[in-house]
Amino acid sequence: MKIFVTRNLPGRALSRLSEAHEVDVWEYETPPTKDQIIERAKECAGIITLLSDDISRNLIAALPELKVISQYAVGYNNIDITEATRRGIIVTNTPGVLTEATADLTWALILSVARRIAEADRYVREGAWRVAWGPELLLGMDIFGATLGIIGMGRIGYAVARRTTGFDMQVLYYSRSDTYLTRAAEKNLGAIKMSLEQLLAEADIVSIHVPLTDQTRNMIAGKELSLMKQTAILINTSRGAVVNENDLYEFLRERRIYGAGLDVFQQEPTPLDNHLLELDNVVATPHIGSATVSTRNRMAQIVVDNILQALDNKKPKHLVNHEVYHQS
Ligand code: NAP
Ligand code: GLV
Ligand code: GLV
Repeated sequence: MKIFVTRNLPGRALSRLSEAHEVDVWEYETPPTKDQIIERAKECAGIITLLSDDISRNLIAALPELKVISQYAVGYNNIDITEATRRGIIVTNTPGVLTEATADLTWALILSVARRIAEADRYVREGAWRVAWGPELLLGMDIFGATLGIIGMGRIGYAVARRTTGFDMQVLYYSRSDTYLTRAAEKNLGAIKMSLEQLLAEADIVSIHVPLTDQTRNMIAGKELSLMKQTAILINTSRGAVVNENDLYEFLRERRIYGAGLDVFQQEPTPLDNHLLELDNVVATPHIGSATVSTRNRMAQIVVDNILQALDNKKPKHLVNHEVYHQS
């Protein structure tokens, strides 16, 4: 069967796919436009997509042969799942293998914002370091003994929370359901469940780990930021649109919160004139949560396993739309 892949993937996974199917890989760095995807995928039974591809209702409707969309990410907010399901198209993702790498990156941002690492690096390189040592040079915030608030105690939220043990931190969390992970967080880490409002008011570090959905879009805006401590830090490694960037900018500029670490943005790539980038108390990274060599290789293997299983009429292990198997 024919498969279109919207970007080359690391490792050897795609050659495994080529042994079983006719694989066409987009050859450029710039992602294909909607029309280019339609042109290349119109006869395809499967496509492998990135989170930066807008797999909209119209696009899906223009691909009559499509049986499976295999997303190279755990998040799938870029895909119209309802439309895919309605048309009987299987959607899969790559959960789990990127959990620890994304939790590590989250901690890199926590440490960078609290201890002003990006700012300190600029300070050294720009030649501003002219006095040997200063009692008041680049003072930051303590992480040891601080309180961490996790919004969305899922796989990544829990992995971020687990890393607190060496820092002797209290963990608070907000999540909508009770799961094996929320129970594990309570039992193993002494995490305390509370309302979003209470968490925002009590946490020294607030870290967001919910998926982007209709419920979570703009979840952290002015009202929520106004509940945070003036000394608190906001970390977002989920999706940019969960946070209102304009409101966040105002709060950071006026120092009504201490700082923010952002791996994700409302628009990606974020434009250079995004005001957030003017602020010293912001650490920005270009959506690199899962960007380690071994993680990206494992994601490629899973993306290929998922599409092979689906095209082989087996239920893929990492299925997003379970309903697709339960409709007539
Ligand atoms: P997950 O295991 O599904 O965790 C998400 C958690 O959020 C679940 O506990 C879920 O609870 C909770 N949640 C969902 N909607 C909620 C709501 N409206 N209110 C409160 N809690 C809600 O997913 P994951 O693997 O940890 O990944 C989380 C997200 O991280 C992904 O969706 C993706 O957007 C992002 N991500 C980013 C990077 C990066 O490179 N920066 C890398 C990987 C992932 P329920 O059980 O109630 O649904
Ligand atoms: C990355 O953002 C992912 O959702 O895997
Ligand atoms: C700092 O380097 C110290 O020795 O306290």
